[in-house]
Amino acid sequence: MLRALPRIRKDPLTFLSESAATYGDVVEFPIPGQRVFFANHPDAVKQVLQTEHRTHDRATVQYQSLALVTGNGLLTSDGELWRKERRLMQPAFHRAVLDQFVEHIDIAVDRLLASWARKRDGEIVDVDQAMMRTALEAVGRSLFSHDLSGEAGELVQAVLKALDVVVSRARSPLAPPLNWPTLGNIALRNSLRTLDHTVDVMVGARREAQRRGAGPETPDLLGMLMASEGFDDRQLRDEIVTLIVAGHETVATSLTWTWYLLGQNREVRDTLLAEVDSVLQGQRPTFEHLSQLPYTRQVVDEALRLYPPAWVISRRALVDGDVMGVEVPAGSYVFVSPYVLHRTEEYWPDATRFDPARFASDAGEQTSRFTYIPFGAGPNLCIGRDLALMEAVLVVAAVASKCNLDPVIGQQVSLDPLVTIRPHGGLPMVLKKRFP
Ligand code: HEM
Repeated sequence: MLRALPRIRKDPLTFLSESAATYGDVVEFPIPGQRVFFANHPDAVKQVLQTEHRTHDRATVQYQSLALVTGNGLLTSDGELWRKERRLMQPAFHRAVLDQFVEHIDIAVDRLLASWARKRDGEIVDVDQAMMRTALEAVGRSLFSHDLSGEAGELVQAVLKALDVVVSRARSPLAPPLNWPTLGNIALRNSLRTLDHTVDVMVGARREAQRRGAGPETPDLLGMLMASEGFDDRQLRDEIVTLIVAGHETVATSLTWTWYLLGQNREVRDTLLAEVDSVLQGQRPTFEHLSQLPYTRQVVDEALRLYPPAWVISRRALVDGDVMGVEVPAGSYVFVSPYVLHRTEEYWPDATRFDPARFASDAGEQTSRFTYIPFGAGPNLCIGRDLALMEAVLVVAAVASKCNLDPVIGQQVSLDPLVTIRPHGGLPMVLKKRFP
């Protein structure tokens, strides 16, 4: 294991893929002091994330690191607390209210298109950065509705800064204890202080506005969470931060990889453009267009297969048991990897090929609930799944109807798996306006 450490740090995705290919469906990593199992089989996914979810919690390095920023929000909690949070938050993400977020997403897309309209045809743009900005604006507006240049913007920046520190901590095997006055710890403490203060101010201002009978014109998540009355101020803070963390980078990277794959596969792109042009006729996509853009949705689904933003999902076993017959004592970590599973030939023939036809409604039983898990599985299935898919389809259709993104010739793209899988050093692509 020690000998493998440099390789794991340099390229964990290849390390995991090779481990599964060499050692089989359930692999134990020999780590002193902590038993760690990696399972790469749909039955194991079903068992750990669904059937036995009550005896597998999230007290793992992955979620405890995130919890330094998100506290006890929905993404990092377990048991009774998690059940209460999920029940209170579910209505805000229900399919029936999804269209309320379209307006927020539209503003983010308009800004992106306006900034690209000012560029020269053929100019190189960093698609990774652009998608991060667009997704951040979309989730920020969905949460707070109003202008992100003020407190909401400050809050979002504080969250991202704190997350950065936490991620570099999680990557370092020798991270200093949190109470040591290191630069990283001081930066984390400062961002958390800014974060807590800004949430207080924003929630206070919203309460005051509600007392006066004034509120945002378009409903937003903050209003929905505050209306549920089951959250005290601390819990409200944790949920707000959780939604920024969970709903920003995930959507952004799924879009980034979609553009990357479309740039590499002209035939797929042509089919997508034919659909987008005939459905939208030059108009901006609306909620009503979504059902008429099935191929665009297939493209997004397939990009999420090849580059699932959440590349690993971990749990801790609470009782002695087994995973697919391999003994797993209480206290062990068990994790699955959507990235590795989605690229396993047994479940996905010709797995590395980008082929949106796999997700066509008439493609038959190609995908199963437990071989395709970009949003997880079982009771912790991503609460923002429908919102994320809607956002991705709207952004892809809106952008594709105006411009193409071509690969930069000779450019090598390597993967950087941090909180999500991102292209190392960004993703420069050539911006080509379709209707100059
Ligand atoms: C493409 C975009 C997204 C991907 C790939 C994604 C992926 C995931 C995955 C894999 C999980 C399961 C974690 C686990 O089992 O421990 C999850 C949970 C979660 N996601 Fe997402 N997510 C996305 C977008 C969003 C959005 C837009 C939001 C909200 C605005 C969101 C909020 C959450 C929350 C709160 C949870 C915790 C759910 C629970 O444990 O009950 N996600 N997500």
